[in-house]
Amino acid sequence: MSLYKLFSYNVEIQYKCYFLSKAMFFTLLLTALNVILPFVLAYGSRGFWLKSHTYFEQPVVHFTYDYLLVAETDDPSQPIVCGNDNYDHEENCAEILVEEYDSNRDGNYDILEFKLKLNLPPGRTIASVLLILGLDFQLKMVCPLHMQGLAVISKEFSLPSSGLIYYGDLRLYQTIHLPCMVNNIDTKYNHSLFNQLKDRQENAVDAIIRDYFIREAWDEDANSSRQNDT
Ligand SMILES: *[C@@H]1O[C@H](CO)[C@@H](O)[C@H](O)[C@H]1NC(C)=O
Ligand SMILES: *[C@@H]1O[C@H](CO)[C@@H](O)[C@H](O)[C@H]1NC(C)=O
Repeated sequence: MSLYKLFSYNVEIQYKCYFLSKAMFFTLLLTALNVILPFVLAYGSRGFWLKSHTYFEQPVVHFTYDYLLVAETDDPSQPIVCGNDNYDHEENCAEILVEEYDSNRDGNYDILEFKLKLNLPPGRTIASVLLILGLDFQLKMVCPLHMQGLAVISKEFSLPSSGLIYYGDLRLYQTIHLPCMVNNIDTKYNHSLFNQLKDRQENAVDAIIRDYFIREAWDEDANSSRQNDT
């Protein structure tokens, strides 16, 4: 047989203490933790089921002073090659000027200006130019990353030219998610591709560019306006 409730009353028990007491302090502390802790946990986990996320950060980019210029002349068997290790053509690579500017004065460089003056052998004209610049690339905030990147500029001339002026924006491409560990800098690609030049001289340019583009993140000079003075 089931039982039926006939009568009930609530008993209220009150615990009291003075405002400035240890017990009061303890209670206030627990109340505050009750409110704050869920926010801290939700923030710290960066979203419980987050699969991907976008954010904006201006990377810290420096020129590493590694560069390689291959200029094909109208005699394709004798390209002019200039670089840090000044190959056989030291006399042709006359002058290089590099400047980095911080245009908005926020402590990060925004503009890299690279000028190179070539002395052509008499009677030669330039048919194409390939310039590779080494860049040191760092992300610091959400997904710490330090890598050695490249800016690749190539241009073929249909008419004989005396110069090339090239403007470009630097872009970071990634094909997978970055590891994004707060206190762990991702240095998977923090090795210079220019070291290969010293080991294998021939086809070094192809090797550099191939190794670079099979990476999972890289930066590149993209969608630029070009102009050449003739
Ligand atoms: C990445 O490489 C550069 C140049 O080799 C080096 O100065 C830097 O300390 C490296 N960064 C990290 C986080 O190891
Ligand atoms: C990229 O270049 C194309 C043509 O050269 C131009 O129409 C387009 O607006 C450029 N995009 C950006 C983002 O500059």
